[in-house]
Amino acid sequence: MSLRTIKDLNLENKKVLVRVDFNVPLKEGVITDDTRIVRALPTLKYILEQKGASLIVMSHLGRPKGQKDPKFSLAPVATALGKHLGTEVKLASDCIGAEVEELSANLKAGEVLVLENVRYYEEETKNNPDFAKKLASLGDIYINDAFGAAHRAHASTEGVAKLLPSAAGFLVEKEIAAFKPILEAPAKPLVAIIGGAKVSSKISVLESLLRTTDAFIIGGGMSFTFLKAQGYTIGSSLVEEDYIDTAKQFLEAAKAKGAKVVLPVDHIVASEFSETATAELVDDVNVPAGKMGLDIGPKSIALCEEVISTAKTIVWNGPMGVFEFDNFAEGTKKVAEAVAKSDAFSAVGGGDSVAAANKFNLADQMSHVSTGGGASLEFLEGKALPGIVALED
Ligand code: 3PG
Repeated sequence: MSLRTIKDLNLENKKVLVRVDFNVPLKEGVITDDTRIVRALPTLKYILEQKGASLIVMSHLGRPKGQKDPKFSLAPVATALGKHLGTEVKLASDCIGAEVEELSANLKAGEVLVLENVRYYEEETKNNPDFAKKLASLGDIYINDAFGAAHRAHASTEGVAKLLPSAAGFLVEKEIAAFKPILEAPAKPLVAIIGGAKVSSKISVLESLLRTTDAFIIGGGMSFTFLKAQGYTIGSSLVEEDYIDTAKQFLEAAKAKGAKVVLPVDHIVASEFSETATAELVDDVNVPAGKMGLDIGPKSIALCEEVISTAKTIVWNGPMGVFEFDNFAEGTKKVAEAVAKSDAFSAVGGGDSVAAANKFNLADQMSHVSTGGGASLEFLEGKALPGIVALED
């Protein structure tokens, strides 16, 4: 399979329809993190540099469920994009229909048109062929740079790709170049740091990474299901009873493969799940009754640092504890620092670990920070992402 990329296509004098993932966080109509816009700029600027080319940008924002709810308007995004590109950006009041068709028909070389939220139509998420046709009619060429939405088989991510000459943008190319070797042929040793609340949401990625990973670090709420599976006490920590056998099987499979698994050996605990809860150290793998583990302890941090220092490739998905609460952030912070300090190629995916890397101002010291949450997880699970598959020969 080879991915068609933007440089494979001649964009001169073409109207280029680009799907981006500008699903950015907003607070009272103000963008609180414009990373997804910034990361798409190389593709958008490249298009505008091509002689005679014009740009039509489409995206979803939130989940308006087929309703034209102004709360989900791309207006703030269009304004921000204009500032980043240093050019006027027009916002169409819709993504299909007579007005947008006219705007597109009159678009001149170098001009930028942003379509209104494609999820104002339920046909988008249903990958409706007629809706895809209407979107496709607006451009001559389709570029998909929406890695964050590549796991969705929607009209603007998958349907349109089949109707126009299509290729991946630079961001999609970069995301694949970061994650693909981790699944196929990473520089060894590969250390996978997997955390977060639930085994159920991470077991597929653990199993998929078993093929190439030399050492796993398992932290966060999910680690207690693994500890319980090994017979330790976990107090009132998070546990998924239904996944104890699955956890056992994973530990056995890792052992059979010769992959090391690092689990917490000490904990920072509290009596309740609260930002103001008093943090106490439990210098033991067992958590006493009535206490819940909310972060890994200093001995566990040291173990993680030791393993991370041996890596040539690191993949990190999920925090080590409740890093959003300052009293329980140290484990995630120290692990993030160890990854940042490492010379290994480091790929960070998943909303929470990216948020943690940002919180500790370490994102720019990682080799790759993904713009995809669900998409990067599904990619690492080895699943085919429909938005990418549609761009492959
Ligand atoms: C994301 O934020 O992960 C992407 O934009 C996909 O959004 P969705 O989960 O609503 O499809």
